[in-house]
Amino acid sequence: MSLENTDPTTTETWKKLEQHYKATKEDPIKEHFKKDASRAEKFTLRWSDFVVDYSKNRITDETLRLLLQLAEDVKLKKAIDSYFGGDTINQTEGRAVLHTALRAKESDSIMLDGQNIVPEVYAVKEHIERFTNAVISGESKGYTGKAFTDVVNIGIGGSDLGPAMVVEALKFYKNHLKLHFVSNVDGDHVQEVLKELNPETTLFVVVSKTFTTQETLSNATTIKKWFLQHGTQEDIAKHFAAVSTNSEKIAEFGIAAENVFPMWDWVGGRFSLWSAVGLSIALAIGYEHFDALLKGANEMDEHFKSAEFDQNIPVVLALISVWYNNFYGAETEAIIPYTQYLSRFSAYLQQGIMESNGKSMDRNGNRVIYETGTIIWGEPGTNSQHAFFQLIHQGTKMIPADFIGFKKSLYGNTDHHNKLMANFFAQTEALMNGKTADEVRNELEAKDMPENELRKLLPYKVFEGNKPTNTILIDQLSPKSLGALIALYEHKIFVQGVVWNIFSYDQWGVELGKQLAGATLNDIENSEISDHDASTLQLLQEFKS
Ligand code: F6P
Repeated sequence: MSLENTDPTTTETWKKLEQHYKATKEDPIKEHFKKDASRAEKFTLRWSDFVVDYSKNRITDETLRLLLQLAEDVKLKKAIDSYFGGDTINQTEGRAVLHTALRAKESDSIMLDGQNIVPEVYAVKEHIERFTNAVISGESKGYTGKAFTDVVNIGIGGSDLGPAMVVEALKFYKNHLKLHFVSNVDGDHVQEVLKELNPETTLFVVVSKTFTTQETLSNATTIKKWFLQHGTQEDIAKHFAAVSTNSEKIAEFGIAAENVFPMWDWVGGRFSLWSAVGLSIALAIGYEHFDALLKGANEMDEHFKSAEFDQNIPVVLALISVWYNNFYGAETEAIIPYTQYLSRFSAYLQQGIMESNGKSMDRNGNRVIYETGTIIWGEPGTNSQHAFFQLIHQGTKMIPADFIGFKKSLYGNTDHHNKLMANFFAQTEALMNGKTADEVRNELEAKDMPENELRKLLPYKVFEGNKPTNTILIDQLSPKSLGALIALYEHKIFVQGVVWNIFSYDQWGVELGKQLAGATLNDIENSEISDHDASTLQLLQEFKS
């Protein structure tokens, strides 16, 4: 079964949302709080150890009612069933989208082409567990009989960003193995990593769903050559593992069959960290923690599948984001985690969100006449407060932001954590409240500023406020809570793709880049340059000279 095909703008609800937007767009959020004492509680979702307060948004009961109606109009419930049920919802590639099966319970049954895929998933999980235990315990050894000390993940896009983000996020739970990530085809990147490594004690994990990606194959080949300056061809079996759907290419590369982990075409690269693509995560934090990450994601899956839409975290956050994207014309969304551990989180979500919903064709093959994917960016607080927050507070653009924070720190430094969280709460409050001219005047008068100076300065110190934020407050950063948080955003992507009537699970734009780079490489390496525009031709000639 394929997804429904509804242009959201043709629904009655969309038209009502447009009128509602015109009538309420400037209403100050802080006034809503004054009128409704129950607003904070009403617009807060509590699930597991997550508290999601979305009350500091430019929404009313009516906005929410209409957005939820829109979800009904585009048949979201049916779409969710298709998603989890393994229907071919990635229609342009003829595939199911079943990364959720990677974190299913062992007792679950998920049928694809008449076969339950859960036993296969668990067989690979068992392999990951055996492999990682042997490496971590030192039972697996390198070619000179020494235990491994370093692991290098060689991959790009979904074969790099997820593992790299999670390994950084769960650093607190790490064992002795030192993790490295080589992704860019930039030879200086691989060289910088290699210079830190001892070939006798390093394990290389080549991760490529297709095993044809130029960047990954170039890096893997360079690393193999470097390794062969020390070890022999036979030693490769001890030092290289691979994760891929392409067993033929892996065999050509020389990786031993017992070190090969399969992938499936029903797992998109950007949603693959739950599969053996997460091998470097399991190596870094141990299998038990890796499994807890999967459990957290599975719990969020259950919540998303079963909660009523008005109580459903991914659904509500997705709809609020549609509200800003399509009615307010907000182009970007910021993700601001108040923990340094999540420093790679927005980079990771950039791929997930922008590769999925950066589409302009609807499911009829027509160009959409409305906005789709949002631009995602962000950095951890408090650093970001000292970088780009000025623009969020006083710039001309509306930038809805998700603030993600944790009640407890990991090392228990209360003094620092209280300061960190004071910033976390103060920022969302200030973004909403702003500062009026009267408040600025009072402040400056209290400092005895002369009236002429005060008048000059006053406009610059006024904050309009009314800047929307969501606050996601979680008990503590753990493998389980991180798993749930990532799954939350995965499902938000899905809901938005359904509303926008686009195909979220292909990435033809990226594929085009891959093809073009191949052709241009020929121009660089051969004496003849093929046909190009005058600018590109000039630049290629300059480069070659
Ligand atoms: O970035 C585009 C993409 O196709 C992603 O979807 C994927 O994660 C990445 O390239 C890497 O592809 P592969 O795992 O096949 O090397």
